[in-house]
Amino acid sequence: MTAERNPSPHIRAARHLVRAAVLAPSLHNSQPWLFACSDSTLLLYADYRRRLQFCDPYGRQLMISCGAALFNLRLAMRRLGFRPVVRLFPDPGTPWLLARVQWGAYARTTPDVALLHQALRHRHTHRGPFTSAGVPAPLIEALARHARAEGVQLVALEDTTARRRLSRLVHEAEARERRVPGFGGELLQWARPFGNDRGDGVPAEACMFHPDCVALAGRDFTGLTRRRATARPRETWPARTGLMVVLTTPHDTHQDWLRAGQALQRVLLCAAGHGFAAGFHSQPLEFADLRALVRTLAPSGQHPQMVLRLGRIGWQARTPRRSVAEVLPHGGVAPAEGHAA
Ligand SMILES: Cc1cc2nc3c(=O)[nH]c(=O)nc-3n(C[C@H](O)[C@H](O)[C@H](O)COP(=O)(O)O)c2cc1C
Repeated sequence: MTAERNPSPHIRAARHLVRAAVLAPSLHNSQPWLFACSDSTLLLYADYRRRLQFCDPYGRQLMISCGAALFNLRLAMRRLGFRPVVRLFPDPGTPWLLARVQWGAYARTTPDVALLHQALRHRHTHRGPFTSAGVPAPLIEALARHARAEGVQLVALEDTTARRRLSRLVHEAEARERRVPGFGGELLQWARPFGNDRGDGVPAEACMFHPDCVALAGRDFTGLTRRRATARPRETWPARTGLMVVLTTPHDTHQDWLRAGQALQRVLLCAAGHGFAAGFHSQPLEFADLRALVRTLAPSGQHPQMVLRLGRIGWQARTPRRSVAEVLPHGGVAPAEGHAA
């Protein structure tokens, strides 16, 4: 029997963790991560070949996506009853090595861990109106606590002026992206038609509403706004936009981006565990001038990393993932420098 048909317990454990990690959200479902394992260590690498050149020239959102995958990995280890021991950027000479995760001491799993872990497979991005049910105040507090535990602030924009300002900034950013061919071309590269069976990108099934149907403009994955007849939505639901939220960090370093990703996923899973979904509106953070204006909505000194809206939904589409074998190469060999920035 070959080693592959009878993998070692370490490889089997690594595959179990990576299966959870890849369920993380990522910009345009680009899944810009790679994993490697050796004995009791799991390594998370950034795969810069999957970075989006127009939306994400500095790799900030790539790093946030990898941070979300890292949180899933930690959560899966915790669910098995072990404390993960995590070191971010463990090797200064290999900056695309984002984290080293090792199995720590036994620790009984908690109801919170169980709730988040159970939400891993249900959580998906929502693009469209929410129901009219609001997000209850105790849940907003719980989400903020989860973000804080990762060193990140969750800022809920509840007053009308702040909501209007954010809405204008998202519209301005989205209008710019629709005008510039580079952004449109990049979006098309990751947009997948109905019934497509690729393991990455955003399927049309996940974009069933017009991108302009709520107060925060969405990305136009299906090209509706490029077709004259449907340039404007037939119906809009600004009152069903949901709770607008910004995640912020005290600095804007690679470490902050990785932390923002872990906080993002922790917040999303907690929301999903309580029956709430999120829509993402990252466009204004992709232009320095608009990001500076979003910053004025956050507490002084904080840097905005994610713009989300939260609410209840009746139904949501699934998105595909690449297989574990594609991201944890056979035997867990470390990726070469070619995968670096
Ligand atoms: C850093 C980051 C930025 C994102 N920005 C957007 C966005 O602006 N618009 C959008 O519709 N989805 C956005 N998403 C969501 C991804 O498109 C989504 O996670 C991906 O398609 C996988 O689908 P899932 O979340 O349903 O599993 C973003 C996700 C991440 C991690």
